[in-house]
Amino acid sequence: MEQTQKRETGIVRSNRETARGHYVIEVELPGLFGVVCPGQFVMFRPGTGETPLLSRPFSVCSQTETGETTRIELLYRVVGAGTARMALLRQGDTVNVLGPLGRGFDMDEGRRVILVAGGVGVAPLIFYAGLRRAREEDSGRVRIVAYVGAADEESIVGVERLEPHCDEVKIATDDGSRGFRGTVTELFRNDVKYYEKKAVVVRACGPRAMLSALADVLDGQGIACQVSMEERMACGIGACLGCAVKVRLGDGSVGYRRVCKEGPVFDMEDIDWHEN
Ligand SMILES: Cc1cc2nc3c(=O)[nH]c(=O)nc-3n(C[C@H](O)[C@H](O)[C@H](O)COP(=O)(O)OP(=O)(O)OC[C@H]3O[C@@H](n4cnc5c(N)ncnc54)[C@H](O)[C@@H]3O)c2cc1C
Ligand code: FES
Repeated sequence: MEQTQKRETGIVRSNRETARGHYVIEVELPGLFGVVCPGQFVMFRPGTGETPLLSRPFSVCSQTETGETTRIELLYRVVGAGTARMALLRQGDTVNVLGPLGRGFDMDEGRRVILVAGGVGVAPLIFYAGLRRAREEDSGRVRIVAYVGAADEESIVGVERLEPHCDEVKIATDDGSRGFRGTVTELFRNDVKYYEKKAVVVRACGPRAMLSALADVLDGQGIACQVSMEERMACGIGACLGCAVKVRLGDGSVGYRRVCKEGPVFDMEDIDWHEN
């Protein structure tokens, strides 16, 4: 059954810089917004207008229902005009939020989970790890190990949010200023041989180059992996085809899938990593 999406006017509760150029914004939405699955996203814009093309997609980093309102957090990096405007928002400002959108991660699979995050790709993985822990009473103990990568120490985000939910958090920086020197996928490549293949699942989010490198690391390993892809989007609701990615279909042919509708979460093996 298709999930209902809502366009709501929300109120900014806080918007703080947590690392250089990286912010966490908390927004209060009226009533029950709809249950967000980690990996799902919202189209977000400052102000109350309805123009979808001015909205930007962001993964939900947390959701809290208070009964009468819903609070969501987004973790974002300032990269251009839209996110620069977001960074200027203050407590009490109004914003426009459309969601929840897209397909999230499968939540029940695997008792041993590996998270691989590049930059702000950590946002949906924080939500995922928190929810897996919260559900342990029903599902049993889950072991979660996170690999977090960034350009340098000052750009690392989300580690303090992951740590309470993870058994271990491993960090990689391109310049070696914190943790392993190199990419997060190189760090994971060094460890992959120690994991019991059939017992673990991987959940990943980050730039396409990182996900493509992860696909190389996992090639032939027999480890199930889902990735959240942060392709550029225009409409965010399946109408413009601007976010299509090339996929391998079951019969061996190739096709296209919309990241905003059929994704942003895909099984890693379904994506044609070398052709997009
Ligand atoms: C499903 C999904 C979830 C996302 N979740 C998050 C998140 O949790 N936190 C976060 O910070 N960002 C996230 N993004 C990316 C975010 O939407 C873009 O950074 C944002 O739209 C940029 O808007 P802008 O107006 O500031 O930049 P623009 O002026 O539109 O672009 C500035 C620069 O960033 C580049 N750029 C824009 N969008 C992307 C993109 N999607 N991928 C790579 N480069 C891009 C442009 O080419 C340009 O160089 C997500 C994207 C998708 C599709
Ligand atoms: S962004 Fe328009 S179809 Fe996906």
